[in-house]
Amino acid sequence: MRINNQYNTINFKTSYRKVIKPGYILGDCYEASTYFFVKGLQWNKFFNHIIEKYRNTPKVNVFSLAASDGSEAYSIAMILISKLGVEGAKKYFPITAVDFDKTITRNARKGFMNLSAKDESRINKYTGNQLNKFFERTSQTFLSDKIGSSENQELLTKFKTKPVLQDKVIFITEDVNTYVEKIPDKNNLIFCRNCWPYLWKTSDIFAQNLSKKIDKNSFLVIGNFDNLCCPMNIKHCYGFSMNKDFKNVFDKSGNNYCDKMRIFSDKIDDELF
Ligand SMILES: C[S@@+](CC[C@H](N)C(=O)[O-])C[C@H]1O[C@@H](n2cnc3c(N)ncnc32)[C@H](O)[C@@H]1O
Repeated sequence: MRINNQYNTINFKTSYRKVIKPGYILGDCYEASTYFFVKGLQWNKFFNHIIEKYRNTPKVNVFSLAASDGSEAYSIAMILISKLGVEGAKKYFPITAVDFDKTITRNARKGFMNLSAKDESRINKYTGNQLNKFFERTSQTFLSDKIGSSENQELLTKFKTKPVLQDKVIFITEDVNTYVEKIPDKNNLIFCRNCWPYLWKTSDIFAQNLSKKIDKNSFLVIGNFDNLCCPMNIKHCYGFSMNKDFKNVFDKSGNNYCDKMRIFSDKIDDELF
């Protein structure tokens, strides 16, 4: 359903929510596309590394900035629980999911997710077939809204998010440009993926502010869609280093920043298991 250039959320899956503000210019348009275990990160290998890195750290602060409907935050929670168990993963929770879109965050708090067949298979792939541990299938199915200007629709199934998962994520409605000030100064695992083009005019100052929150015990993860727009990939480094083992991951290791071969390198696809 489309109202004043906004895709409404009757058939809610934010993958299909496109918002164009009046007087559209690049920075006034965003698309809330997302799905579970979004490509652009070697999820399994990266989280093995994270678990090792934070073995002796008592609390890790995890953020999903520009979180959309929470698919990313829930993906993080599920992979951690699958690897460590609920008790073992406790120090990573709650994960804070921040998005400035009120419709998305309001829906996200309701505790239902509408999953495509692709979502179901990605969840099973990265959790060792534990979809049913985290979600309860309902009998409701429907066709999604169309994606942006495309004609494609997908069949979605409504699932109830079980408390074991829902409890692990808190949703905040706020612009990441202001929220960044509230992030603690250390031990941060920050996902800020597939939103940098939308930050547009504010992306440089946002990168500077984010850099203040990344200490030697922190990571910033960006997405494939950000490659050309994330300022650390192009002009400045703001103190960040590209992580030597993982594409799309920045840290403060002090490794040589200027690794131009990686700037326009291939997109990261899925790991083969
Ligand atoms: C393409 S989605 C990315 C979702 C998820 N991070 C992923 O990688 O799948 C972009 C999201 O960025 C959000 N967004 C754009 N600009 C933002 C801002 N300044 N502050 C907070 N959220 C923002 C939009 O509302 C949208 O949900």
